[in-house]
Amino acid sequence: MLVSLLALVSWISVVTVVPAHGAGTKPVIVQNNDPLVHFHGRWDPAPETWWGSTGFKLHVQGLSSLTLKLGNHTTSPWVQLGVSINYGSFNTVNVSTGTNEIPLSLPSGETNDNEASSTSIVRINVPGWQDNRLELEEIVLNAGAKLLPYTPSKINFQFIGDSLSAGQYLPQIVDQAWPFLIGENFKAEHLINAQPGIALSDILAYGNVHGMSYEYFVTEDTQYYYTDYHNFTTPWNFARDQPPATHVVIHIGANDSGNNVTADAFTQTYLEFLSRLRTIYHTQPFLIFTPWGWPQSDGTVSYYYQGRYEEIVNTRHALGDHDTFLVNTTGWVTYEDVFPDNMHPTIAGHVKIAGLFQQWLENWGLHPESEWATPV
Ligand SMILES: *[C@@H]1O[C@H](CO)[C@@H](O)[C@H](O)[C@H]1NC(C)=O
Ligand SMILES: *[C@@H]1O[C@H](CO)[C@@H](O)[C@H](O)[C@H]1NC(C)=O
Ligand SMILES: *[C@@H]1O[C@H](CO)[C@@H](O)[C@H](O)[C@H]1NC(C)=O
Ligand SMILES: *[C@@H]1O[C@H](CO)[C@@H](O)[C@H](O)[C@H]1NC(C)=O
Ligand SMILES: *[C@@H]1O[C@H](CO)[C@@H](O)[C@H](O)[C@H]1NC(C)=O
Ligand SMILES: *[C@@H]1O[C@H](CO)[C@@H](O)[C@H](O)[C@H]1NC(C)=O
Repeated sequence: MLVSLLALVSWISVVTVVPAHGAGTKPVIVQNNDPLVHFHGRWDPAPETWWGSTGFKLHVQGLSSLTLKLGNHTTSPWVQLGVSINYGSFNTVNVSTGTNEIPLSLPSGETNDNEASSTSIVRINVPGWQDNRLELEEIVLNAGAKLLPYTPSKINFQFIGDSLSAGQYLPQIVDQAWPFLIGENFKAEHLINAQPGIALSDILAYGNVHGMSYEYFVTEDTQYYYTDYHNFTTPWNFARDQPPATHVVIHIGANDSGNNVTADAFTQTYLEFLSRLRTIYHTQPFLIFTPWGWPQSDGTVSYYYQGRYEEIVNTRHALGDHDTFLVNTTGWVTYEDVFPDNMHPTIAGHVKIAGLFQQWLENWGLHPESEWATPV
């Protein structure tokens, strides 16, 4: 009796002392609207993801386990995620409706001493341009874990493009594409709205019922049209892009060209698109890519709308907008950099493009941050 009473007393002291050190005994439930979760990209109110690269970032103290509870709108039978721990490379994790434990393997060479005081950064996104729906119900962390604020980078790139920016044909899709690599290289935040087959003109192109000049301004990517329970679009509230984009990078036109949109019509549409973007991004630089073209096996490259991108940038300048810049990508991509059967950049091709664009940005005056804004 005395023994069990002592046991009870010491048990009581354990349960009262442990919470005083901030380590509870129950798993920590993080709601899907918790302001400490750094959401990025296009989430609808459910919340469900649209557009490859959409996701969230967590800064957690004392993290040892992470579980995602996902709703039944999550792409079936699974949705591919990219997961990075402590700014390590993104690894593929497939998840499904229900409860999913996310492996917290660290970048090689790093150890997790599991000290309650150590903090971790977890970055999760949906890299696919289709089959990319994650319906987030809640995030469950181990007992004692504590969500801390995530401070975003001062640089937040907004990329707008088609298959050449979406990472089509790559195993990790947009997570291996040049826009994503630029974000990583600059220790920056990034937003990517890129859809294979999409034209800038608001026309039907390769399964896209709208062009980017429409789609960019709505929450949903093209897949809404193929989603029976959500077959509609809603205006995107750009105030939800936090922090606001600092640089807008556009590489588009291949699928206008492929659908016989005339050069004059394309130029006109592009100028209207930029005018509309200026109502959102008052002073941010617009970086306009010329096409790197379609490299051929004989060493030639076929270009489209030649001279038109220069004309678009010059017209912006004539309108008094000197924050619009031409990124001349002529010669950036050769036949060695693409898959021969579809002329899209390979994994190495995307690394090369990111390197050349980084060089361009550095010459222009933008340099990578030396540290991530939220250190671990
Ligand atoms: C999906 O989840 C919702 C909300 O929990 C529920 O009302 C609905 O019945 C579920 N549908 C299916 C097919 O399981
Ligand atoms: C994800 O699922 C696909 C299709 O089944 C599979 O090929 C791939 O290996 C899976 N990836 C991981 C990391 O489990
Ligand atoms: C248009 O988009 C499709 C799908 O991404 C792509 O395969 C094709 O190469 C593009 N066509 C042209 C002419 O750019
Ligand atoms: C979405 O609506 C359009 C008509 O507006 C229809 O043609 C299409 O089949 C619908 N998609 C689905 C998946 O129901
Ligand atoms: C574009 O024009 C070419 C040449 O006239 C024609 O062969 C092709 O079918 C057209 N493509 C589209 C999508 O209209
Ligand atoms: C783009 O670069 C190519 C190759 O260096 C060059 O021939 C062309 O004149 C450049 N175009 C512009 C508008 O600067």
